[in-house]
Amino acid sequence: MEKGVLLTGGAGFIGSHVAVALINAGYRVYIVDNYANSSPDVLDRIERITGTPVYCTKMDVTDRVSLRNLFRCVSIESVIHLAGFKAVGESVADPLKYYRNNLEATMMLLDVMLEHGVKKLIFSSSATVYGSPEVVPIPETARTGCTNPYGWTKLMSEQMILDVCTAHPDFSAILLRYFNPVGAHPSGLIGESPSQPPTNLFPYICSVAAGEKDKLLIFGNDYPTPDGTGIRDYIHIEDLAAGHVSAMQYALEHTGSEIINLGAGQGYSVLDVIHTFERVNNVHVPYEIASRRPGDVAVCCAAPDKAERLLHWKAARSLPDMCRDAWRWTMTRTR
Ligand code: WQD
Repeated sequence: MEKGVLLTGGAGFIGSHVAVALINAGYRVYIVDNYANSSPDVLDRIERITGTPVYCTKMDVTDRVSLRNLFRCVSIESVIHLAGFKAVGESVADPLKYYRNNLEATMMLLDVMLEHGVKKLIFSSSATVYGSPEVVPIPETARTGCTNPYGWTKLMSEQMILDVCTAHPDFSAILLRYFNPVGAHPSGLIGESPSQPPTNLFPYICSVAAGEKDKLLIFGNDYPTPDGTGIRDYIHIEDLAAGHVSAMQYALEHTGSEIINLGAGQGYSVLDVIHTFERVNNVHVPYEIASRRPGDVAVCCAAPDKAERLLHWKAARSLPDMCRDAWRWTMTRTR
């Protein structure tokens, strides 16, 4: 059987776009997902986009027996580990749920990978590990320190993986620190549909524009930024997915570990996003200024040089592309 890439959490927002990009790049993709924040409906849409049937098992990555059975039955050459809880606010309210799930999943996966001699791993980390950045744009060498349990589970998982690489010099791990993934596949067939109500800016704006919510609350307009609202490094999900294909290629050709930012290296404020979204989609997004959200920082933006140097990868899509594709997906899912 052809060796393939195991995609944990592959039915989710990021996972489904990475699956499409990998299949289009010629990889054999095996998905495992417990559908905690996704739906099996996405599988036939991945097939419609790629023309390739998708192999998926409903499974929790913390279930060692199921994971072992999968590695026994399927020929896996590499793993992209995306499965995990990712709601910052929920992690503050229920930290042990996050530590138990996210850390156990990473630990179990590493264990079973080593048992089966699978030593190529791409890990879904997050810019949230930088906490309140000392310097912007943020390089991978910046000090880390989290402001929420979700971020700590990412940083602790990174450390576990780095220590495995030290113990096993032939292991290859790329830790990708995502900035703010947004948008959707241009087909409008896959996109972000969190099972919980949206808390991130882009899905919330889409909900307001679609009339599902009456207005957007802007969390603070008194930040030290040009228009007072928070600045973030939004990256089109298609660029993020392409970054995973480049990282996979690099991991297959190297050993050792690398930490790499996946961001556009360009910051936009909340008001920039609202105005661009309204202009390119010809919609109205009513908003109200509210108080700052605890834990938010004024500016979070990637230094994208290492990804360009090591992976020959650079974000190519613009903020209008992100707004246009996010809106097309919204109109599809609300149909
Ligand atoms: C963006 C900007 C808000 C909602 C989070 C996680 C991070 C990563 C990406 C997983 C900020 C403002 C937002 C709203 C608003 N996820 N905002 N009103 O907080 O940068 O990052 O998602 O890895 O870990 O922390 O993204 O989209 O929530 O906020 O004004 O209703 O929009 O203040 O300036 P964030 P976000």
